[in-house]
Amino acid sequence: MSEETITEILPPIRHWPALDLKGVDFDPVLTELMREGPVTRIRLPHGEGWAWLVTRYDDVRTVTEDPRFSRQAVTDQPVTRLDRHGTPGRGAVTFLDPPHHTRLRRSVAAAFSAEGVERVRDTSRRMLDELVDELLQDGPPADLTAAVLSPFPAAVLCELMGVPAADRHRMHAWTRLILSSWHGAQAGERAREEMGAYFADLIGLREGGTGQDVACLLGAAVGRGEVTLEEAAGFAVLLQLGGAAVTDNSGQLFHLLLARPALAERLRAEPEIRPRAVEELLRYIPHRNTVGLARIALEDVGIRGVRIRAGDAIYVSYLSANRDPDVFPYPETIDFSRSPNPHMTFGSGPHRCPGGTLARLVTGLLVEALLDRVPGLRPAVPPEHVPFKKGTSIRGPEALPVTW
Ligand code: HEM
Repeated sequence: MSEETITEILPPIRHWPALDLKGVDFDPVLTELMREGPVTRIRLPHGEGWAWLVTRYDDVRTVTEDPRFSRQAVTDQPVTRLDRHGTPGRGAVTFLDPPHHTRLRRSVAAAFSAEGVERVRDTSRRMLDELVDELLQDGPPADLTAAVLSPFPAAVLCELMGVPAADRHRMHAWTRLILSSWHGAQAGERAREEMGAYFADLIGLREGGTGQDVACLLGAAVGRGEVTLEEAAGFAVLLQLGGAAVTDNSGQLFHLLLARPALAERLRAEPEIRPRAVEELLRYIPHRNTVGLARIALEDVGIRGVRIRAGDAIYVSYLSANRDPDVFPYPETIDFSRSPNPHMTFGSGPHRCPGGTLARLVTGLLVEALLDRVPGLRPAVPPEHVPFKKGTSIRGPEALPVTW
């Protein structure tokens, strides 16, 4: 416990419903929570009880990096949460603490490093060019999500994972079933099992191999006895599903660029600013609804004079950290020249997203191809008529109707 003065007065518990937010609107409940104080208490739609929430950049870093806050311990408690259905279960990478978490993440680290990701750049660009060729051949109008933003990240993930081209359609269909709620929980569960069984076979076949794709790396780790086949297959499923996060995020990005054509025009005219602009858009886009996964305090910890007791659940908000005025001056402004821009869109601490570098590559290629090859790209419907997903943890457009 730190030496600072600890207050025992508990802040009120705020109910935080899942709002059906549109576009890149910032969640008004989160705005209120940020105004209320750096450490507040929340109740989410599902699970039980309440949890702490920290919203400031430095506190988010403290909680995510401090081993006194455990992810593993979440699986023992019915913590208040956004999702109706609990968690993907014990043993999943998202619910491990070091050293097991480190062991599993290390097994695939090479594929997601800057070098590993660079390895798929040329193939990815070719796959994207083909999709844009088809888009142009079919002519306007089109749904940009269905035509490009959904199939492209999925195909890049398949490439990195080592999924053979013949199986990619199946992989994409499973992904859609797992991530869409309207097919019902059962269909999603079945698809998850089928994808897991597929990866178990693929990894089993690559056991002892020396290739650089993720299936090979996992096969090698299983062969060395560092990772079980079950752990490897479960991890592979989560990695493959990560492609859909780019679909949703780039859906918000293009919705924003189409709704604010002056931003798109600048990016067309000044290609050299694109890498920094993509970082700024990643900072600004509200990637998810409410908050992700909780952590549990393993002992009493003081944060900004508030005692977080052993056993308490605590959430961080990467969205609010990205709007912290102490780190990002004028945080509500999209500033393509913002530098430095140490945003937390991909998280912080050991659970930081393994797909950050890949997501940057895919997003950068999408911006390049769609702005340069489709110069007249514009919305086919008014921005307020774009359908956005409802009831999902990750925010994004259902479809993005465009013309040119
Ligand atoms: C723009 C796209 C993406 C965004 C904004 C994003 C964001 C995040 C965030 C905020 C976390 C959670 C950090 C935490 O738990 O504290 C995370 C975790 C994760 N992401 Fe991503 N992600 C994206 C793309 C991807 C991609 C492409 C992959 C596939 C490689 C991926 C795979 C994962 C996995 C497996 C985890 C769990 C990591 C762990 O718990 O150790 N994500 N991501």
